[in-house]
Amino acid sequence: MAMKAVAVFSIKGGVGKSAIAVNLAHAAATSGARRTLLWDLDAQGAATYLLELAPRAKKARAAVSGDASFEELIQTSRFANLDVLPADRSLRRLEGDLALADRQKVLKKHLKLLESRYDRIIIDCPPGLSELADRLFRAVDLVVAPLLPSPLSERALEQLLDELRKNHGGKPPVLPVWSMVDRRKRLHRDTLASHPDRLAIPYAAAIEAMAVKRMPIGASAPMSEASRAFAALWSAVEMQLLRQ
Ligand SMILES: Nc1ncnc2c1ncn2[C@@H]1O[C@H](COP(=O)(O)OP(=O)(O)OP(=O)(O)O)[C@@H](O)[C@H]1O
Ligand SMILES: [Mg+2]
Repeated sequence: MAMKAVAVFSIKGGVGKSAIAVNLAHAAATSGARRTLLWDLDAQGAATYLLELAPRAKKARAAVSGDASFEELIQTSRFANLDVLPADRSLRRLEGDLALADRQKVLKKHLKLLESRYDRIIIDCPPGLSELADRLFRAVDLVVAPLLPSPLSERALEQLLDELRKNHGGKPPVLPVWSMVDRRKRLHRDTLASHPDRLAIPYAAAIEAMAVKRMPIGASAPMSEASRAFAALWSAVEMQLLRQ
């Protein structure tokens, strides 16, 4: 199976990227039986934390920017088929490294190195259109873009699509997904109705509780609506990847 990389990305912060990245990676590894790597590229390390892992050394920046061994940082998780490349705070200064002329393709090179080891690489990104985002758009096969159910999200999505059109020839494809949906709210229902084709992740106490249980929903609450929503998202991602 050809290795494919997916970035969970949004211009806006706090929209559920890390929750989606962790659960998507878990679904890929378990229901999908794909050899999966969750690559945490956000200095806050939320995805790393949610899987109950911790960085062993503050070397993520050096490894990602190409100054230290990259594969050495990969850790196994307690789930079959799921490895994690943890984030640490050194990543806060990754931007400057990536701006250097000889580092333009460094993420692409890392992914190439992982090709024989993994089927799917899910990347949890920090928010915002940064150098890192630019390098990622050149390297990944798909962007999953979580949107809060508000008309403002549509503008953020348009900005992302504009950026990809202007600077990346319209690639990679973007899969927008509603995040933190509360169907009791009129605004949420109306916003969702404007794009009935998009998948939605519900606002769920079980997802919030991930920060306490430090486990993917597929493991802690496999029969929940939230778990089914992540499974549906995983299928949609997989369908899109196999089509390419
Ligand atoms: N579907 C959901 N239902 C309930 N709470 C959620 C849901 N998704 C995320 N959360 C909670 O909302 C907060 C933000 O989520 P998360 O960290 O996944 O967002 P993010 O986009 O990764 O944020 P950042 O931009 O800071 O990286 C967290 O406290 C998380 O537990
Ligand atoms: Mg995050």
